[in-house]
Amino acid sequence: MICCLNPDCLYPQNPVGTNFCVSCGTGLIPLLRGRYRVIAPLGGGGFARTYLAEDVDKLDEQCVVKQLAPQAQGSWSLKKATELFQQEARRLQQLGQHHQIPTLYAYFKEDNYLYLVQQFIEGQNLLQELQQQGVFNEAKIRELLHDLLPVLQAVHQQQVIHRDIKPENILRFQSDGKLVLIDFGVAKQATATAIAKPGTMIGSLGYAPIEQMQEGEAFPASDLYSLGATSFHLLTNICTRDLWIRHGYGWIQNWRQHLKQPITQELAHIIDRLLQENHAQRYQSTEEVLKDLNKRLSGRNIPVTIVTPGPNQKELLCWNLLPWAVVAGSGSSMLMIALISFLGTIWISSGIWLLILAGFIFVQPRPLFEKTYLFILALITTLFIVLVFQKLQIGRALQYSPNGLILIVFLVIISGLLALTIMSLSLLFNNLMSKFI
Ligand SMILES: Nc1ncnc2c1ncn2[C@@H]1O[C@H](COP(=O)(O)OP(=O)(O)O)[C@@H](O)[C@H]1O
Ligand SMILES: [Mg+2]
Repeated sequence: MICCLNPDCLYPQNPVGTNFCVSCGTGLIPLLRGRYRVIAPLGGGGFARTYLAEDVDKLDEQCVVKQLAPQAQGSWSLKKATELFQQEARRLQQLGQHHQIPTLYAYFKEDNYLYLVQQFIEGQNLLQELQQQGVFNEAKIRELLHDLLPVLQAVHQQQVIHRDIKPENILRFQSDGKLVLIDFGVAKQATATAIAKPGTMIGSLGYAPIEQMQEGEAFPASDLYSLGATSFHLLTNICTRDLWIRHGYGWIQNWRQHLKQPITQELAHIIDRLLQENHAQRYQSTEEVLKDLNKRLSGRNIPVTIVTPGPNQKELLCWNLLPWAVVAGSGSSMLMIALISFLGTIWISSGIWLLILAGFIFVQPRPLFEKTYLFILALITTLFIVLVFQKLQIGRALQYSPNGLILIVFLVIISGLLALTIMSLSLLFNNLMSKFI
């Protein structure tokens, strides 16, 4: 096969020996720079196209040819795209010594297009692997982090920030399963001033952290965010781009609810710290992540807590439930007092109370775990009322001497406070648990 190098050609593959593309009519180039035979398209992003090629000077060894093909119009965009492409070549030259980063073979201009030629990695990218093999389990995610973090460490040591880590940009060597980091198109020198002009490529939606999207800034922690988003995507098969479009950065607050399989609290904690919206709260370096990853692996005999899919712990109890706890506590005790006073019997009143309250709480549009929690609070405070009534042997509260009304108000306030106290203690306990586990 011979590939048409017109970046706009829809069906670029042609039989060997053809002179003009059967699809778009463009003249075909049998050997780029008299050396590289481009045979098939591999991918096409915003400003570059990637092809599989053969190097005739190296006994037809396979290589990858990337062509600058900016889609954006206007001289500023073209200049920017050219700059990014040159940058990619420079980064590959600088970093390509690492065996998990492709080596740069050549960089040249031909027929008004810029090309870079790099080592071909035989294998699949992680998006393809996900589509073929299904979601990654915890062991596979840990392996991914273990394998990729040292590569990222080497990149950061050269003061380079990749800025576009995502499953498509991570390849797996078919031979030994090692991971390779590719696509340094938007990688930047950490010290360079960011150019955040509209239309500038600054990474991929859903994988790029907020500082990269808003300010065009990138730190080592920015790549760590993208690594967190990548891990999430591979664990759940949910593209973070879709979540980002629908919820902005809100999705990272409750990423656990999308899990389809249990993971340990340890891994969940690592992903939590990778996915912090504020970069200052994230891990600051690959070393920090590796330390946590190793620490937790070496503690094999420590029993692990499983984080099951569904609402996460932070979400399970949150501080905005406090006023509702007071309403549930005092409201339900008021209802109980009214019922006992009206019917004069505790048992029938309790039955009716249960029906009314259950109906009232469960029609509310809130998550089931919140409703259940509020219901339990109401139950506890009402039990308290029943106990008081039994102790004082009161039937109709209003007729209770010396002043029934004061007693009712007092009991309702106490019930509200009781519910508030229980709720606050639960929240404190919950926060402590999530910090120390
Ligand atoms: N060195 C390589 N070896 C093998 N496949 C590659 C290589 N570089 C890129 N590819 C394949 O081509 C796709 C697009 O390449 P990439 O460099 O990420 O360009 P883009 O800028 O279009 O995202 C990748 O997802 C991968 O599947
Ligand atoms: Mg890419």
